[in-house]
Formats: sequence, C-alpha cells, structure tokens
Amino acid sequence: MKARATNPSTPRRVVVHRPGGLDRLVLEPFEPPQPGPGEVRVSVRAIGVNFADCLVRMGVYAPAKRYVDWPITPGFEVAGVVDAVGDQLEESDWPGRRVVALSRFNAYASHVVTSAQRALTMPDGWTMAEGAAFAVNALTAHHALHLADAPAGSAVLIHSAAGGVGHWLVQLARVRGLAATGVVGAPDKVAVVTAAGAEHCLVRGSFEERRLQPIFLAVFDAHGPESWRRSYGLLAPTGRLVVYGAHALTRNGRIPWLRAGLDLLRRPRFDPLRLCADNRGVLGFNLAYLFEQDAAFANDLAELRTLVVDGKARFPPITTLPLDEVREAHRLLQSGTTVGKLVLEIPA
Ligand SMILES: NC(=O)c1ccc[n+]([C@@H]2O[C@H](COP(=O)([O-])OP(=O)(O)OC[C@H]3O[C@@H](n4cnc5c(N)ncnc54)[C@H](OP(=O)(O)O)[C@@H]3O)[C@@H](O)[C@H]2O)c1
Repeated sequence: MKARATNPSTPRRVVVHRPGGLDRLVLEPFEPPQPGPGEVRVSVRAIGVNFADCLVRMGVYAPAKRYVDWPITPGFEVAGVVDAVGDQLEESDWPGRRVVALSRFNAYASHVVTSAQRALTMPDGWTMAEGAAFAVNALTAHHALHLADAPAGSAVLIHSAAGGVGHWLVQLARVRGLAATGVVGAPDKVAVVTAAGAEHCLVRGSFEERRLQPIFLAVFDAHGPESWRRSYGLLAPTGRLVVYGAHALTRNGRIPWLRAGLDLLRRPRFDPLRLCADNRGVLGFNLAYLFEQDAAFANDLAELRTLVVDGKARFPPITTLPLDEVREAHRLLQSGTTVGKLVLEIPA
C-alpha cells in the first residue's frame, strides 16, 4: 500500500505521528522550510534509507526522542539541488549546486534545510541515487575503521557485510590493506561481498562460520547481544570489537519485547580487569549524537568522495523506489533480505 497519493509536484514529506508499523509512514503536503543563517535548502531528488529510519518509525530510536519526539519526519541523507540560501552565505555560490546533504531527521521530504557545512558538492558523474547512497553509510564505516585502528595486513571480521554500512566497511577495509572476512545472513549475499573486496564471506550459523578462530584485530558488529559476545571471543590479543547497532533485536519491523528484553539482560558486560587480562578493547558509537561535528564530517566526507572519484571505492548495489513507496522500502529493509542500499526517488 502506498503512503498516500499526493500530486508529485506538491512539496511533501513523510510524517510519523505515532510510532508503530508501516502504516505510520504518511506522506503529507507541507510548506517548504526557509533556510536560516548558514543554512541551505535542498530540493531533494533522492533520499537514502537507513535501518535507523525503521527504528525511528518503531519508536525505539533514542536520538529521535532526544532531539525531536513525535510527530517526526525520519531520514538522515539526501541528494538534490540547492534552491534557497540563508544569511551569512555567498548567495551566488550555492543556488543550482548539486549536493549530498546530511540532516539529523527531516530527510524524507521534497525539501530539506541543513547547515551548509553538511552539504557536500556532488561530483558531475554521480547520479542522484548514488549521492543518496553515500554519506551515512560511508561515514559510519569510516568512523568504525578509525576507532578500530587495525594495522594494514591484519584480519578483520565484518557482520552484515552485504548491507549498506557493510558494503562500505568491506570497501574501506580493502583500501586500508586489511584482510576482510564478511558474515551474511543468507547464501545469495555472498557473491556481492567478495565482489566488493572481502577475502572470504561466510553465512551466519554455517559450519565454517561457527569454526572461526580468534584471529581478528577488529570485529564490526551491529547485530545484537548474542553476536557481540561471540565477536569478543573472536578477537586476537590487541583486537577491538566495534559495536554500532543492534538490528537483531527487531523482527520484521517489530520489537518482540519479551525476547528482546531477555537478550538485553543476557548482553555481555565487559569488566575492565578482564579487558586488561585479555588485551582486547570494546568501542561503541552512534553518529546521530555526533552531528555537531560538522567540520570533521565535512573533511571525512570530502576524503571519502575522493576515494570514489579516484576509483578506489565504489557504490554498493542500489535499489530505487519512488518516495510514495516508502512503506515498501521499510518493509524490504526490515526483512533483512536486502543487498546494498535502498534509495527513495523524487522526480524533478
Ligand atoms: N551507530 C551509527 O552511527 C550507525 C550508523 C548507521 C547505521 N548503523 C547501524 O548499522 C546497521 C546497518 O545499517 P544499514 O542501514 O546499513 O542496514 P543494512 O545493513 O543494509 O540492513 C540490515 C541488515 O541487517 C541484518 N539483519 C540481521 N537481523 C536483522 C533483523 N532482525 N532485521 C533486519 N535486518 C537484520 C541483515 O543482513 P544479514 O542477515 O546479512 O546480516 C540486513 O540486511 C544497523 O544496525 C544500523 O542501525 C549505525
């Protein structure tokens, strides 16, 4: 079912008035916001869909509660064309510029206002869908690898390696000279992970995956409590576990509260003395709480853009849907079966 038909030329956004299932994603007309000082407005052509958007819709994404509450328009990233400029910016520099832009929420819309520092000029060769498939996932992978700081030549393990973040982890690990092993949930995802540059790709729960040895100097794990425990055990001395999500606590877009509660009760607790004895580290992050670091993000994104322009990293497989099929996009992403990135498109 569609989120609700509106005239495609009418400014519109997706609003979640109350948390819940797919039917809570409602497409509504709206008055495009005006940019304030130092801000630009982007006329949006494509929107990147992230797993966190499903968590926002379900009502379990803590930054959504902290920064907005409900009603909320989900979404963190768009590609489009600047169509209005706020004070303190050079008027002639911006209008008509093709940009990739980050926004803490509000990105599921035809118009997005954000700080000019969060708007990166898009290379001419990129499509709007590619622009929308870039910033959040590449930045997340880059930050995770920065925290792990594994030396070139070492072995790293990447969970959900065929997904949006997983793709960039594999690509950027290869750029750093790391030997990546990917883990995926289904055999049909293996080929895309090895094509992206992983040395091996194993199916979660398979004989080979269960026999993995503690040889990894970094494990990247957004899966959930049981997986975090196992991942810690797969670290070699001086290795680091990087935790950045818990998608396995959900089930087809819902939280099975009893099971999720039990899983959380059983989550590993890392004792500092034990970390010393094991010579291992555990790190976590959520970029949604780091949004004020505009300058750092801008530098990192510019470096990542260069890697793509120079052909050292490439985009994941991208699946596009029109914005009014936002419910279908969430259904697909929360099914756990997707490969690469989902992008919502708004025709010009
Ligand atoms: N901390 C941060 O700053 C940050 C930023 C961006 C994303 N994230 C996190 O990174 C993870 C990946 O995000 P993404 O947007 O790139 O999504 P994605 O990896 O493209 O899609 C989610 C993948 O997770 C796996 N999965 C396992 N159990 C699942 C379940 N119960 N429901 C749905 N998927 C399940 C599936 O792959 P397999 O079955 O193949 O494993 C699925 O394809 C998410 O946990 C997200 O919250 C964190």
